[in-house]
Amino acid sequence: MFTPRPIGFVNSPYASTDQVPKGLGAQHSAEGTLEILPEFAAGLQDIEGFSHLFVLWVFDRSGRCELTGSPPCDDRTHGVFATRSPFRPNPIGLTVVELLGREGLLLRVRGVDMLNRTPILDIKPYLSGVAPELLRRGWLAEAEERNRGKRPRT
Ligand SMILES: C[S@@+](CC[C@H](N)C(=O)[O-])C[C@H]1O[C@@H](n2cnc3c(N)ncnc32)[C@H](O)[C@@H]1O
Repeated sequence: MFTPRPIGFVNSPYASTDQVPKGLGAQHSAEGTLEILPEFAAGLQDIEGFSHLFVLWVFDRSGRCELTGSPPCDDRTHGVFATRSPFRPNPIGLTVVELLGREGLLLRVRGVDMLNRTPILDIKPYLSGVAPELLRRGWLAEAEERNRGKRPRT
């Protein structure tokens, strides 16, 4: 198909996976930077106008694939394609971040859930055209309902 190559790396406060907030209601408000490699600088033209970005990246430290599993926010098993598990056939992550500013090759962002120095594959402007009332949250909504009032799992 094609050989992916990083366009840059994430600078995040997380050195290990246990530091990243997990489970129902986990907030991703950590700030970091997307450090773009110099050869891709021209691709950043006009990015400042967007409030939020999709970041596609590599789970470079997940090391295995599991087609089913129980995520930290539920005690039931689900298929990998119905979750955001790091253990995927193609270890690609997708995170929406808020763009706080740009200094040359550095994009300052809020909402990182990646480990420090995670390779970035691509960045695209976040544009959502799906009306909130049309969104269904599948098993996640059921897990939230079951856990309402309980203490979150850690
Ligand atoms: C549940 S995944 C969701 C990631 C992304 N938002 C997505 O939906 O694809 C987030 C978890 O991936 C793990 N993680 C983050 N960066 C990673 C990396 N570079 N390699 C392996 N695992 C990573 C951390 O444990 C983090 O809590």
